[in-house]
Amino acid sequence: MKKRILTGDRPTGRMHLGHYVGSLKNRVKLQDSYDQFLIIADVQALTDNFEHPEKVRASIKEVLLDYLAVGIDPKKSTIFIQSLIPEIAELTVFYLDLVTLERVLRNPTVKDEIKQKGFGQNIPAGFAMYPVSQAADITAFNADLVPVGADQLPMIEQTREIVRRFNSLYGKVFVEPDPLIGEVKRLPGIDGNAKMSKSLDNAIYLSDGEDELKRKVMGMYTDPARIHPTDPGKIEGNPVFIYHEAFNPNKKEVEDLERRYEEGRVGDVEVKEKLFVALNEFLKPIRERRSEFAKEGARLDKILTDGTARAREVAKETMKQVRKAMKIDY
Ligand code: TRP
Repeated sequence: MKKRILTGDRPTGRMHLGHYVGSLKNRVKLQDSYDQFLIIADVQALTDNFEHPEKVRASIKEVLLDYLAVGIDPKKSTIFIQSLIPEIAELTVFYLDLVTLERVLRNPTVKDEIKQKGFGQNIPAGFAMYPVSQAADITAFNADLVPVGADQLPMIEQTREIVRRFNSLYGKVFVEPDPLIGEVKRLPGIDGNAKMSKSLDNAIYLSDGEDELKRKVMGMYTDPARIHPTDPGKIEGNPVFIYHEAFNPNKKEVEDLERRYEEGRVGDVEVKEKLFVALNEFLKPIRERRSEFAKEGARLDKILTDGTARAREVAKETMKQVRKAMKIDY
């Protein structure tokens, strides 16, 4: 039997190139050799967007379209909506008994996010607890593996602790999931920030049109120390070249540009124009598939309904075992 993978995203907007190199690309590959479950984590998205439920709702469709556009195949991957699996909420409640407040607040990713979001003394309890809910996302499906980036490792660690605690108290119901770390890649933003992200407003979206793409690429941050095209430029850490290396299939062209850049024999404009061409070639088919799928509302609904139904069956079966182990199978 194929090993089961569970991973997913918070629906808080459209997906960008950073998501592509960090996870989407990997998922397209993994779906062939694993039983892949993809959770659209709307409950988790609401923990810091509860004042904007309309944004979360609209983003579910955006995320689904991005998945389909890059080649995630609903025949191979089970795509489902978190809030439609009440078993996850149920399991979360039981797990909350198995962790301490102190432990959840020590989670480094949650700690960073709390700081970033400026909650101060008013941390929503649901937000602080979301790793516990994420442990339920993973274990409700008894996933063997969770493909994640580095920032999500603390979530897997916390899940493993909860699983160990559960199994030792009530008997072995769950497998301890392992993280699956592919080539960990992080794409910088177009502004040179180390991370491409929606909140930093420095992202190129999979759905960006040609004009938008051109505007973003031509305005990209490069080597700040380089003033004239005849100045020798720096390749390392230069987002324009990081993108070239990630998306330009013409390796010769990239090498040539790099050499000339270091020697001060090429201007930023040429480097960026060639990057625009490469990125546009890459995004064009994605963009086209995305707009084709977008026209098929009924098909999209069916993908989510079918995926959710399949996921629910699995989660129900898990909850049966949980109730029995916890002696609440009245
Ligand atoms: N926390 C993840 C993120 O922000 C999304 C997510 C929710 C997830 N549930 C999950 C990832 C379960 C892996 C497994 O990207």
